This record gives sequence, structure tokens and C-alpha cells, in this order.
Amino acid sequence: MNETKSPDARDVERLFASEFGAQYTDRNRAIDPRKPAFFHDLFRRHGIRRVLECGSNLGLNLTDCVGDPEMDVWGIDIQRGAIRDAWASRAGGNFVVGSLFDLPFRDGRFDLAFTCGVLIHVPPAGIRDAIREMHRVSSRYLLCAEYHDDRDEVAVPWRGQAAALFRRNYKKLFLELFPDLVVVEEGYKGQEEGFDRITWHLFRKP
Ligand SMILES: C[S@@+](CC[C@H](N)C(=O)[O-])C[C@H]1O[C@@H](n2cnc3c(N)ncnc32)[C@H](O)[C@@H]1O
Repeated sequence: MNETKSPDARDVERLFASEFGAQYTDRNRAIDPRKPAFFHDLFRRHGIRRVLECGSNLGLNLTDCVGDPEMDVWGIDIQRGAIRDAWASRAGGNFVVGSLFDLPFRDGRFDLAFTCGVLIHVPPAGIRDAIREMHRVSSRYLLCAEYHDDRDEVAVPWRGQAAALFRRNYKKLFLELFPDLVVVEEGYKGQEEGFDRITWHLFRKP
């Protein structure tokens, strides 16, 4: 990827689909068990059964959900190798290779579409389209768990890339795009809780 400050919407997607992404996956093959437990508990409390994680990587956030026989669990990621390994683990769930910008699911297919540490990697030129796709495939809930900044958007250098990570006011962005969303729960999860300092918001459609 070039070092421009104005990347094309799909520049970082291409980066993740390359050897760069495979190396990321190899560094992150383990997860703190409190992460999948948190998501499962949150979803169950809201009666959420049909779940899509956008940018699921190996599906490690979903392990507790796939172990729940009442849930229908899907992950999608641009990395072919990560999706292959998610299937190979035989842990359960359904995983497909694809892009945040063209989710291969019909409108309202899921009770919830969510991201964790993924929208931060979507450049300004694509962020609204990615959120619109999540909104389209969810009949009820959206969850974003990302790096927050009170300012609308701040590019943060990341692994030698000048424009591959963006802290944002994600809550404001979601509500600007879809003013009728209702925030039903939100919070912060730090490293002492097994997360990478994420701010999360659970939104419900009217
Ligand atoms: C930082 S990882 C987060 C993985 C997982 N959600 C977690 O919480 O550990 C970002 C993931 O998003 C995927 N990704 C980035 N851009 C994408 C895009 N445009 N479409 C689909 N997946 C994408 C990457 O391949 C990578 O697996």
C-alpha cells in the first residue's frame, strides 16, 4: 500500500488480503476467553440468535456463540487463509470469504451484524458504505467495538502504514448515518479485561 493520507476505500482491504494479513493472523491465534464470553452474554441478554461478525478473522470472538445450539453464527473476512482455518478448526459456525463493502447476504438476514477492531481499518472513503452494509443485513441490532476518539477521525500510524488505522467517534458516525438507531448498551473494555481498549455501542433499529 502506498503511504498516501487519502487511501482508496479498498486499500487496507487489499493489504489484509495480502501476506501482511496472513502475518497478522499468525500473530493472533490465541484469544483471552473473556472476549467470546462477553459477546455471547451480551447477545443472549438481548435475545440475539442470528449473528454476523464482519472481519471475523479466525472466528475467535465467536467461539462461545458457536457452542450455543440456539445460535446461528456467521463470520466473514477478506482473508482466504483465515477463513480456511476457521473452517478447519471444526469449532462450528459458518465462515465466508468476502468484503465489508459487499456482504453476500440478503437484507435483514441476521439479528445482529457487528465488528470488533475492523472499522478502524476502513479508510474514510469507505467507512459509510461499510456501515450501510452492516445495517442492510441486520434486521435488528448493530454492534461496533472499535478505538474511540472524541474527534471525528484521527489517522494513527500502524505497522509501518500511515493510513491503515483510524480512531473515530463511531457512535456519532452511526447515528449520523442512521438517526433512528437507539443505543441500548455501551461501554469500554480495557486490557485488564482481556480487550484491546475498545469502546463498544449496541444499537437497535426502530
Ligand atoms: C484487527 S483484525 C480483527 C479480527 C477480529 N474481529 C478480532 O476482534 O480479533 C481485522 C480483521 O478485519 C479483516 N478486514 C479488514 N478489512 C476488511 C474488509 N474490507 N472486508 C472484510 N474483512 C476485512 C482483516 O482481514 C482482519 O481479519
